[in-house]
Amino acid sequence: MRHLMSPLDFTTDELEKLFDLANEIEKQPEKYAHICEGKILATCFYEPSTRTRLSFESAMTRLGGRVIGFSDANSSSAAKGESVSDTIRVISCYADICAMRHPKEGAPMVAASKSLIPVINAGDGGHQHPTQTLTDLLTIRSLHGSLGGYTIGLCGDLKFGRTVHSLINALVRYDDIKFVFISPTELRVPDYVTDMLNEKGIEYEEVIKLEDVIGDLDILYMTRVQKERFFNEEDYIRLKDFYILTPEKLALAKENMLVLHPLPRVNEISVEVDDDPRAAYFKQAQYGVYVRMALILTLLGLA
Ligand code: CP
Repeated sequence: MRHLMSPLDFTTDELEKLFDLANEIEKQPEKYAHICEGKILATCFYEPSTRTRLSFESAMTRLGGRVIGFSDANSSSAAKGESVSDTIRVISCYADICAMRHPKEGAPMVAASKSLIPVINAGDGGHQHPTQTLTDLLTIRSLHGSLGGYTIGLCGDLKFGRTVHSLINALVRYDDIKFVFISPTELRVPDYVTDMLNEKGIEYEEVIKLEDVIGDLDILYMTRVQKERFFNEEDYIRLKDFYILTPEKLALAKENMLVLHPLPRVNEISVEVDDDPRAAYFKQAQYGVYVRMALILTLLGLA
């Protein structure tokens, strides 16, 4: 039995197979429409979500399976003090696979250690968000043709953004990647990330102004300032609108630069950018369904 806690749980060869399967599902969805009949996915979400929970539910439904779960810790027995370990032992009796989101770093890992079914980390605190990373990688591979050989700018909340941490971890395994970290000083990427890049000899730079570097980028990965992880509202209000990608700023970028965003967006990309052919964040959400379909099949041994 296999779980998914981090994007590094799959080798790059395994990821290639997963992405090939996701692209095949995209082209021939009818071939996969009944493959999970009789299987049940549990979505255990202790933290709010639109895309991750509903794309998992859509993925399992499109595979012919069924879905149970909760979308709020307060509507589960966690509100009465039940541990994650006990909850997953019980969910193991009801479902064949579980996607779990939790505000505490490591909670899905604790669940996996007690589970009788595959557990997928659907986001744990500010730590990891591996299925978002699979979505990001599939989007880049599908729209740019490969996973190496480009300069990627990550912009916004690089301190608390778990999608950023997961994506950097995953991308360092590909050739000829350069990172440009664009953030206010207070939201810099954590030292453990830059230490890891220094150890591996991977090129990166840290800047504050998006306009200074946007012209060098092949991919711009925008992120939201993570309000829920701030200790103090004043800091959030001061930093929340630090970056707003507008058509004027996008005019400085390469013709084929991809704009990605894990979503939800707050103000960091102006809605006028949505019609630009480089804006790929809604396509990215669609790829999230295909990659989760491929992941469910792989972890259930049905691929
Ligand atoms: N990208 C993402 O994780 O979105 P949700 O929080 O809506 O699931």
